[in-house]
Amino acid sequence: MDAIEALMSRVSIPPKLLVEPAPAGDSLDEIFAAAMRAPDHGAIQPWRFHIVSGDARGKLGDLFVEALKKRDPNADDEAVQKEQARPLRSPLVIVACTKVSHEKANVPKVEQIVATAAAVQNMMNAAHARGFGSFLATGKNARDPHVKAAFGLADDDEIIGFVYFGTPRRGAMEKPRPDAREFVSNWT
Ligand SMILES: Cc1cc2nc3c(=O)[nH]c(=O)nc-3n(C[C@H](O)[C@H](O)[C@H](O)COP(=O)(O)O)c2cc1C
Repeated sequence: MDAIEALMSRVSIPPKLLVEPAPAGDSLDEIFAAAMRAPDHGAIQPWRFHIVSGDARGKLGDLFVEALKKRDPNADDEAVQKEQARPLRSPLVIVACTKVSHEKANVPKVEQIVATAAAVQNMMNAAHARGFGSFLATGKNARDPHVKAAFGLADDDEIIGFVYFGTPRRGAMEKPRPDAREFVSNWT
């Protein structure tokens, strides 16, 4: 698949529709190498990626439950079950983080988040080009200090997203895309 074909055909695949095999070995290395092609002002390299697969997904579920109970000590069983099961929906979750650097005043936090987000998009496009599917999700866990701490992040750092990977269980459902011309103008 050539690059433009890949860009024009990627769609998000809901996590529960992503099954084995997930990218692994050389395929996963290639996805991370694509991440390293993201634009990165000041060569800060603010991105950190944590691979969560196999039994570690259950531990991530445990962490989500702990975080939920800290946020809401009265959380009901249904909410607890939902958090526990969340990472188990796909065979692979990559937790994409921005470790914010304050060393270069000309590269503010927002630019470091943008660099990480660009890296994530490269990863998702690379995965798609190789026949895998992916989904970027955030939610309360991405902003939760207990979850952030488990990934070695300080309050000022960010979880950009939990990126779910696998093989699409069935053909992707295409959805209408906006007409780009609505968002583009000539500035004079
Ligand atoms: C930063 C970010 C966070 C997102 N978080 C969630 C989320 O927590 N849950 C969700 O259902 N979709 C979330 N989405 C949306 C999906 O990733 C996806 O973009 C959407 O389902 C549209 O699919 P598409 O990529 O095929 O257009 C998020 C998107 C972005 C950019």
